[in-house]
Amino acid sequence: MSEDAFPAFYDDLEASLAEAWRRLEDGVKNRKSGFHCVQLGTCETDGTPSVRTCVLRAVDPAAGWLQVHTDRRGRKPAEIAREPRASVHAYDPAAKIQLRLTGTAVIHADDDVAETAWARTRDFSRECYRLQPGPGTPLELPDGADLPRADDPDLGRENFAVLRLHVTRLEWLYLAAAGHRRALFEWSSGTRRAAWLVP
Ligand SMILES: Cc1cc2nc3c(=O)[nH]c(=O)nc-3n(C[C@H](O)[C@H](O)[C@H](O)COP(=O)(O)O)c2cc1C
Repeated sequence: MSEDAFPAFYDDLEASLAEAWRRLEDGVKNRKSGFHCVQLGTCETDGTPSVRTCVLRAVDPAAGWLQVHTDRRGRKPAEIAREPRASVHAYDPAAKIQLRLTGTAVIHADDDVAETAWARTRDFSRECYRLQPGPGTPLELPDGADLPRADDPDLGRENFAVLRLHVTRLEWLYLAAAGHRRALFEWSSGTRRAAWLVP
């Protein structure tokens, strides 16, 4: 690899962190980004790890959170009520960047965060929240769920929630033939620690 081929963040901790948040922000808007869909890990109520794909909906690098939308009737809200620690994994093969974020998850259902997010959802996306019964309910037939006709555009709002992950740890991995780069960023009590790790 020539000297010119190294990205500016290659040996720069601050730039690597900035690139991580920049990629996540891009993932919200850019459906083709490897960070548009992320894997969210929680703990089931018996402690079993549980991982699923979610669409990344919003990111605030300054405040250190990211958010996804979910159904209040699903498993995630109950899991988070019991164990708020959660993780997000994302890998963009084109960028060759893996991010592992850990923090505290908060469910927003009846507040301004949820209202603002609901106002931004399109009617097509709202259909998921109108299905009856709720997600995960066993069915006799594969198409056994009922999608009520929605004359009211806010039908389903009562089932909609925002899951916001307040990040306390971000692990960065950049793959490069000349040598991978791995770094750990941790936030605690208003201070931040940053260190390179052996990849
Ligand atoms: C591409 C893709 C995107 C998804 N996006 C979301 C999402 O944004 N929010 C969500 O709750 N589930 C989403 N799902 C469904 C979840 O992966 C999961 O099946 C569902 O939320 C039920 O999970 P739970 O029982 O652990 O709550 C998505 C699935 C795929 C394949």
